Amino acid sequence: MNQKAKLEYDDKTYEMQIVEGSFAERAIDIRSLRKDTGLITLDSGYMNTGATSSKITYINGEEGILLYRGYPIKQLAEQSSFVETSYLLIYGELPTSAELDEFSNLLTYHSMLHEDMRHLFDGFPSNAHPMAVLSSMVSALSAYYPDSIEPDPSNKQDIARLLSKLRTIAGFSYQKRQGRPVAYPKNDLDYCGNFLHMMFSHPAEPTYLPDPELVNALNVLLILHADHEQNCSSSTVRMVGSSQANLYAAISAGISALWGPLHGGANQAVIDMLEEIRAEGGDSTAFMEQVKNRERRLMGFGHRVYKNFDPRAMILKKYADHLLAHLKIEDELFDIARQLEEVALSDEYFIERKLYPNVDFYSGILYRAMGIPTEMFTVLFALGRIPGWIAHWKEMMEAPDVRIARPRQIYMGATQRDYMPRDSRRPPP
Ligand code: ACO
Repeated sequence: MNQKAKLEYDDKTYEMQIVEGSFAERAIDIRSLRKDTGLITLDSGYMNTGATSSKITYINGEEGILLYRGYPIKQLAEQSSFVETSYLLIYGELPTSAELDEFSNLLTYHSMLHEDMRHLFDGFPSNAHPMAVLSSMVSALSAYYPDSIEPDPSNKQDIARLLSKLRTIAGFSYQKRQGRPVAYPKNDLDYCGNFLHMMFSHPAEPTYLPDPELVNALNVLLILHADHEQNCSSSTVRMVGSSQANLYAAISAGISALWGPLHGGANQAVIDMLEEIRAEGGDSTAFMEQVKNRERRLMGFGHRVYKNFDPRAMILKKYADHLLAHLKIEDELFDIARQLEEVALSDEYFIERKLYPNVDFYSGILYRAMGIPTEMFTVLFALGRIPGWIAHWKEMMEAPDVRIARPRQIYMGATQRDYMPRDSRRPPP
């Protein structure tokens, strides 16, 4: 594409190259804007700013399309496993059987935590939020594996270690919170089965074997969360990584970014909201009025990118139906969620603003059905998102033009002022 955009400023015309993506999405290349014109762009919240080009994930928010490395999310959710999808995201291609075996073996080999690291869990209060524990523990990995401090995106071991140990950290933190001894990983279980074993094995029931339906549901949940291009946490990982901080430090920062209720913390906030509506007798009318008066937000609704529907939410709703039927669970919160969705989708407020259920609207219902407590929901999101974060870190580190991420600003503060002695700074009130 050799199209150019023109900028007229200060009696001069500047031409800027248009860059076109694989699906004809277009951007103005402003890389020389400041050098040529002295101007910068101002775009708080990065609503219009492409921070990078990427080959990992494509989203078309208007049409509800989500592709990982070109593969539609629905196909991956129905046919792939989380480990295979992780390989795809990180290394760019679906693995052959031999490559998948090698990758799975690496994950099995690296599942244990250093025993000293296990003792770190004792230092946290028993009611510590598991996201606080997770981000601290992931950061601590670089203390236990000092070789990883020099970032090396070609190091398969660092990557496998992180993917595998994050799952162990999550399982251990839950058992500790329950006041139980940790359950060590078992080599004969697959990735998701092993996680469920580390979460739910109990010393009084040593033969615990995860229900294959739960393993399947977890696989789907993790695949659906595995990447979502330049979201807040992935951008954080790229930003921290761009300073050449090590992989574990960058991912730990991504975990912290994910924790907020406007991002990965929304799944927990959805359940809190549904519980609140149930406590009011299950009628959402008053709640919806507050939302429309902009006193509250309907959690699990709306998305910066999806302005039609979130394909992940549609897949999850179907799985929630299936899993609840399999487990013979009747969940009032699921009924309230369905009712809220119906009301919202036919209400002018939501239609006008193009607000639809996002991935978090139904994920909490599935987690609840699986016996996962609310405070672990965002940890589950992190477990799913880890291959995406790694893929973004790797892509950024391998890019030929990698530079430290350092936005600029327009300064609106005071101009030059003279220092004054403390007593003469402001008149007494
Ligand atoms: N409930 C009610 N109103 C909403 C909601 C919502 N959930 N989301 C957006 N709106 C309204 C806003 O009030 C605003 O209205 P206005 O134009 O009258 O001022 C309009 O829709 C646009 O909203 P913004 O906040 O500008 O949209 P933005 O793209 O910045 O925010 C976000 C996206 C953060 C996801 C927002 O929709 C939200 O807060 N949703 C609830 C939290 C949530 O579910 N987060 C999970 C996101 S998915 C994920 O991270 C996995």
